[in-house]
Amino acid sequence: MNQSNETSSDTLLGKLVVERGLATQEEIQSCVQMQREVSLESSVAGEAEPANQRSLAQVMIDEGFVTQKQIDRIRPEVEEQTGKRVIPDYQILERLGAGAMATVYKARQLKLDRMVAIKVLPRKHSSNEDFVRRFFDEGKAAAKLNHPNIVGAIDVGQAGDTYYFVMEYVQGRSVFEDIQEKGPYTEEAALKITIDVARALDHAHKAGFIHRDVKPKNIMLTGDDTAKLADMGLARAVSDREAAEAEAGKAFGTPYYISPEQIKGDVNVDKRADIYSLGCTLYHMVTGNVPYDGPNPSAVMRKHLNHDLTPVDHINHHLTRGLAEIIEVCMAKDRRKRYATAADLLQDLEAVASGEAPPQARKMFDLSQLSALDQSAGPMEIVALPQPEPLVESPLFWIAAIGWFAVVLLLVVLIVMQVGN
Ligand SMILES: Nc1ncnc2c1ncn2[C@@H]1O[C@H](COP(=O)(O)OP(=O)(O)OP(=O)(O)O)[C@@H](O)[C@H]1O
Ligand SMILES: [Mg+2]
Repeated sequence: MNQSNETSSDTLLGKLVVERGLATQEEIQSCVQMQREVSLESSVAGEAEPANQRSLAQVMIDEGFVTQKQIDRIRPEVEEQTGKRVIPDYQILERLGAGAMATVYKARQLKLDRMVAIKVLPRKHSSNEDFVRRFFDEGKAAAKLNHPNIVGAIDVGQAGDTYYFVMEYVQGRSVFEDIQEKGPYTEEAALKITIDVARALDHAHKAGFIHRDVKPKNIMLTGDDTAKLADMGLARAVSDREAAEAEAGKAFGTPYYISPEQIKGDVNVDKRADIYSLGCTLYHMVTGNVPYDGPNPSAVMRKHLNHDLTPVDHINHHLTRGLAEIIEVCMAKDRRKRYATAADLLQDLEAVASGEAPPQARKMFDLSQLSALDQSAGPMEIVALPQPEPLVESPLFWIAAIGWFAVVLLLVVLIVMQVGN
């Protein structure tokens, strides 16, 4: 590898180390400086090929900023990017970002001369036959979905031992980036985004898709603030729980939005899992905080299973009771107590957005109160019955008393006058 290739690999390596929070920009700079000083000493000494030249990775390891294992995990990504990946029919232009599982590139689809985003999956999954089958099946099926609030899937393919998922390129930002930059949304803005996503889910659920990973990072916002749900139809190589755990150590990861049934590894995860995750996402959007936090993914997941939710209107008094009720119904731990469909959720979101109470949530709250009454027999009902008002507190009592007093007074006056005559 020549010097300039080496340098671009090093720059990228340093960038990825910082992105993953393994070292700071300053620490990387100091390693680069050390590397330069060694090169300079060697050239002053007239060495053609400096014997003691260390790679940036080696300097970082020697200085104790990263471990060999961490570098080994990052290396394939560096190779992927500097090795000028070739995907037939597409020209890779730039790297857009990376999640826990894959890297996303901006590319030009040559035949149609349009921009697309390509998600390139790690090579290690190519030996998992079940995953490869699901990856193609779900990707092809998703390409048939067509909805303004869904990032369209375009193609799935294989180049060598690499699998890739081509999707509509969204010029914009994710909800996650927005919250990080500007803090929480107003109720109005959050409702608008959530309505868009609920429409996307309604469409996808009716076509038989379950997203399984609804979260702020998977909601893209276009220039005109339309929200689009990304990664629809993207099969995952690992279980939902494993995917959640893969984000360990990252500031905002999947464990913050995962449903209790996905945590438990339920095989029959259905559309209500997406409704739970959208509830968590809405919670994050309006409070600026995830609903349950903890020092590690397991602690967060335990809270999804066992902890009571703090209603959003208790955190921010400007938020309406209706919004808090919607989130509570979305995030019920027992999925039978959630909205049954995204259409029901949509009805409530639209009601609250226009200043009304959420009809579906109210119905569910009433029903749960009725069933609570059913379960608590006898004495509880007596306590719940309205108590008779004490007599002296009734206005009728006072009208009658004053009336009687006036009559008695009149009689006394009449008697006194009679006696006087
Ligand atoms: N269709 C797209 N158009 C433009 N940018 C995109 C698109 N899809 C993804 N990106 C960018 O690529 C980044 C990485 O996306 P990716 O889906 O790999 O990660 P993630 O959603 O953060 O996590 P996960 O892997 O759990 O889904 C996103 O944060 C976004 O900035
Ligand atoms: Mg994503």
